[in-house]
Amino acid sequence: MVATSAPGKAILFGEHSVVYGEPAVAVAIDARVHITVEPCEGAWKMDGYPLDGDRHPHVASLLDAVLGEDFQSHAIQVRSDLFPAAGLGSSAALSAAGCAALLSISNEPLDKEKIATFAHLAEAQAQAGRASPTDTSTATLGGCVLVSDKREESANWQYTRSLETPEGERVWEIHSVNLPPSASEMWLVVGYTGIHAPTAELVKGVADLLTRNPAKMEDITRMGEVARNGVAALSAGDFIQVGELMDEAHILLAGLGVSCPELDDMVEVARRTSFGAKLTGAGGGGCMLALTDKPDETAAALEMRGRRVLVTPLGAPGVTVEKASKN
Ligand code: PMV
Repeated sequence: MVATSAPGKAILFGEHSVVYGEPAVAVAIDARVHITVEPCEGAWKMDGYPLDGDRHPHVASLLDAVLGEDFQSHAIQVRSDLFPAAGLGSSAALSAAGCAALLSISNEPLDKEKIATFAHLAEAQAQAGRASPTDTSTATLGGCVLVSDKREESANWQYTRSLETPEGERVWEIHSVNLPPSASEMWLVVGYTGIHAPTAELVKGVADLLTRNPAKMEDITRMGEVARNGVAALSAGDFIQVGELMDEAHILLAGLGVSCPELDDMVEVARRTSFGAKLTGAGGGGCMLALTDKPDETAAALEMRGRRVLVTPLGAPGVTVEKASKN
């Protein structure tokens, strides 16, 4: 039996602008997808039912890529701590944890670059050939991750990821960001609107806005600067500056039309007890996050608004094999 897990993620800076080549910064959060895999009779199973590639495209794609055909059937069980479809990277965590489990049962080395690659390809295959490696790299590496179209001096370069997309080849440089010891006193409070908003529609909305109003591209460029300044402030432990940049990022994102009244309200409430707050991920619903050293107060204020919250340190361990035994 093999048990693995991988963390979800929250984007600190760079959602949407990353689509236009600007950098994005994400942290692994303390909420994980857990997977167990054990041999079974008959066909492969997922949560007790025969594995259906249409319902579980990530797993089907990983089976193909990692094991190929004619491998002993196994039963896969998945348990998730994450709000589903809320922009917290649950499918990336599933892909990274699933890949580690499949490599483990086939006695292959658990190379992180390999896991990040297979997990990214599984995400891309499930999303019509388009996926940035932000979520899968964060689920794999853990900690704080910077994704850019070039190697950035402010962070530790880890590997290059490329993908053949319908628009041609795309290349990303993946880095880890070292956080100072003072980051252990900081918390992210993630608040969930309860609204599911499809990422693809929001990305298209921004593309349409930029076509109608090309001057908005200046805001995308500014979002890239905010992300780079954010990495510098995070690395220096200047959390007041990080918070101010998060506030600015929210204003810029709202200007692209991807916030909503619920997110604006939660951000406003959370700011009273935090360094800064912004929507995280695609927007239109989904989640917001606040950076705070008073997580109980910030969480309570959001809960008073009837919202579900999750409190996490800045960063969590990446993909992990919890157990690998012969029985
Ligand atoms: O799917 P989410 O909520 O993690 O957001 C994706 C981030 C975007 O920048 C909006 C899209 C992308 O592919 O990077």
